[in-house]
Amino acid sequence: MKQQLDEILAQGRELIAEADSEFALNELKVQFLGKKGKVTALMKGMADLSAEERPAMGKVVNEVKSSLEELFEARFQEVRELDLEKRLSSERIDVTLPGRRLPKGSLHPITLVTDEVVGIFSTLGFGVVEGPEIENDYYNFEALNMPRNHPARDMQDTFYISEDVVLRTHTSPVQIRTMLKQRPPVKVIAPGTVYRRDSDLTHSPMFHQVEGFLVDRQVTFGDLKGTLQTFLNRFFGHEIGVRFRPSFFPFTEPSAEVDIACVICGGKGCRVCKDSGWLEILGCGMIDPEVFKAVGYDPAVVTGYAFGMGLERLCMLKNGINDLRLFFENDIRFLRQF
Ligand code: FA5
Ligand code: MG
Repeated sequence: MKQQLDEILAQGRELIAEADSEFALNELKVQFLGKKGKVTALMKGMADLSAEERPAMGKVVNEVKSSLEELFEARFQEVRELDLEKRLSSERIDVTLPGRRLPKGSLHPITLVTDEVVGIFSTLGFGVVEGPEIENDYYNFEALNMPRNHPARDMQDTFYISEDVVLRTHTSPVQIRTMLKQRPPVKVIAPGTVYRRDSDLTHSPMFHQVEGFLVDRQVTFGDLKGTLQTFLNRFFGHEIGVRFRPSFFPFTEPSAEVDIACVICGGKGCRVCKDSGWLEILGCGMIDPEVFKAVGYDPAVVTGYAFGMGLERLCMLKNGINDLRLFFENDIRFLRQF
């Protein structure tokens, strides 16, 4: 019987070492130590032993039993650790893998140019004001020396909302709104969206302007020229070819339009500059005494200049863009370049 027990122990040691999962170990434990297991069966056989043999044999059986229990316990522990290690290595998170990139938007080129223009004029001491895009006829035309039936209204094909209300055709009504609120000196710019019935390579029905004006004692046309040339040099980053061309606006006298050398063709002539080599970017002039009267300023005391420039044009010229409509098509491939 002693020999049988030794064999069981040896066999158990071998099988336990080979078992590689908790499940296999549990099965094995039933086979050896369960109610119908090998050790239990031997213990039942003890009844046949003589009274002298029984205590010694009982001791051996208990020793084998506890040896097996220890072996099982140790192997359970090992198998659990192995299992954990396996899981940790197969489920490992590689924190050095690059993350998923979220698509990131960017500012629209017109927004970028607006910010830049506002920035340059801010350093020249101009404040920033804004006005409504839906405007009364009075501010958009009448107070700017364009009474009803004045032929100059034809220069700007207008979207009328009603007899008296329009989508503003330029940012100049902000001049009127500002001067009605403030006493001179006034030195501000007014960026914003404007609307006209216009559509081709260099005109769109909705576009952007920046109005600028300065009212004080003894302001001259020279001040206007100097300010605009300084702005344009800074904006384009170098001395830029500029042409002041006599023009007419009902709200300025004298008036001029300013052209810059076409940067698309270098002044040789192309479809953007309509073969002239020049591109109109702004209108300007000395504020008309009639406008001062409309806002209650005394034209005998103050003078002032005003200008209004097209932001799309500036942006096209700066970036070599040859079609204005690209700004409004929202083509991601175009917008990504800014
Ligand atoms: C005016 O709008 C005047 N209010 C400018 C002004 C202000 C003159 C203050 C004197 C004193 P004009 O219609 O020329 O002027 O437009 C000014 C600029 O806006 C143009 O030089 C051009 O750069 C731009 N522009 C005009 N129409 C369009 C259009 N349909 N699409 C894009 N840009 C345009
Ligand atoms: Mg014009």
